[in-house]
Amino acid sequence: MNIDTKTQIYGIIGDPVAHSKSPAMQNTFFKDFGINAVYLAFHVTGDNLPDVIAGFKKIEELHGFNVTIPHKVEIMKYLDEIDCIALKIGAVNTVVVNNGKWIGYNTDWYGVFKTLEENKIPNNVKTLIIGAGGASNGVIYGLQQFGISNIDITNRTAEKAAVCAEQFNIGTVDFASYKDKLDDYQMIINTTTVPFNDLILTFDKNVVYFDLKYYLEAMPDFCIDGKTMLYYQGAKAFELWTGKTVRNYDALQSR
Ligand code: ATR
Repeated sequence: MNIDTKTQIYGIIGDPVAHSKSPAMQNTFFKDFGINAVYLAFHVTGDNLPDVIAGFKKIEELHGFNVTIPHKVEIMKYLDEIDCIALKIGAVNTVVVNNGKWIGYNTDWYGVFKTLEENKIPNNVKTLIIGAGGASNGVIYGLQQFGISNIDITNRTAEKAAVCAEQFNIGTVDFASYKDKLDDYQMIINTTTVPFNDLILTFDKNVVYFDLKYYLEAMPDFCIDGKTMLYYQGAKAFELWTGKTVRNYDALQSR
């Protein structure tokens, strides 16, 4: 597809954004469907966000973009409409520009849902979530949509875990003592920025370990990484922008 005056612009804003896999993935999707569009990575710091948004609003060729750390909450005040699921999760990772109107969605939870589905996780597993940062609400929503209801959360900063627990009606575990209670859980999810190895000392083959990071170094091969989540959140964003359903999982795996 040649770039010309009709090329639609999509992208991702974040800080950092240099290591994002989304441009390679989304550009493959556009190519597969023969859509004249390009998807770019924009490095946008928190300080620059208002100016970038003001500029984006003037670009007629911009049809949508993804939002990543640290802007998923802040972006919400610039939107004309926010989908009810994104409101419940409290974060937006996908913006659709429709006749100048900006509409915010959250597709991260769908990535979590599909990860559970593809890995054939039963919905009666008792689950511990470690971390209550930006990604955790989407994870909890995805788990609950999947039908997993027995969920506890633990976080270094206890107040943040308490806020999540209250919002989603789940339990909390003290961060100082969660390691003594790991035997209670059949699934453990790491949403922190810390490697799993620093949080769990021994890995049990009968337990499901899911870490949102794309690459898990020095982890047993039965641990689930964030690649499936990344793919499906992106596929869902693409569907919101174009109405097309992608089935090219290789778009991610081959890169
Ligand atoms: P935030 O939402 O606070 O900006 P994030 O980057 O989305 O943060 O998430 C970071 C997560 O990793 C948080 O759960 C954080 O715990 P705190 O809420 O206590 O900061 C967790 N985290 C980061 N470094 C950590 C460490 N050294 N040990 C344990 N948890 C850590």
